Amino acid sequence: MFAHLDPHDRDAQAAFDATGAGADEFLNDWATVLNILWRTDCIKKMGAAFFAQHPDSPGLNLGAGLSTYFQWLDNGANSWTDTDLPEVISLRELLLAPVQLHCRNHPLDIMQPGWWIGLRPKRYRDAKPVLIICEGVLMYLGAAEVAVVLREIGEHAPAGSELLSSQKYSGQMGVERTTVPRQCR
Ligand SMILES: C[S@@+](CC[C@H](N)C(=O)[O-])C[C@H]1O[C@@H](n2cnc3c(N)ncnc32)[C@H](O)[C@@H]1O
Repeated sequence: MFAHLDPHDRDAQAAFDATGAGADEFLNDWATVLNILWRTDCIKKMGAAFFAQHPDSPGLNLGAGLSTYFQWLDNGANSWTDTDLPEVISLRELLLAPVQLHCRNHPLDIMQPGWWIGLRPKRYRDAKPVLIICEGVLMYLGAAEVAVVLREIGEHAPAGSELLSSQKYSGQMGVERTTVPRQCR
């Protein structure tokens, strides 16, 4: 199904194997499958374009779930942090292969302001732009909650950082790219 969008996700099968769940039951909902494959492809391409410009910048996935974008975006010079609520980080550690070099899991709650300061390593507070993915997260929050997340990013992310977020526009799904402007710093 949709072979042209197959991301060759090396971790997805391992996660299915570890849970004992099969993919077949999800395939009936072809519209959701198509959307997720399409947005994965978009984020991979937008992420690769970011690291072509900023090869040794860090990446950050907010509400990563079980996704592992660093498998595609690792260029040998960059680094990566996958974040989610503590119980989801525990699941990642249980179900996914051990993290690769320059990649880490980090528990945080995006609704608790101040989480950016708690990011380790310190490179997230350097001047280098950060690639921030927030896929399938903001679209489930209310406007005030989204504002809390965007304020934290606007106040702390270095100028030139890019936020890639999946959004719903009048029922349609899209990936939006927002660049943190200099005046936010
Ligand atoms: C629909 S899943 C999307 C997962 C992944 N980004 C993807 O696209 O496959 C939403 C994720 O957001 C996480 N999440 C929800 N509220 C959060 C919060 N307050 N702080 C951090 N993560 C949160 C959930 O735990 C879940 O993993």
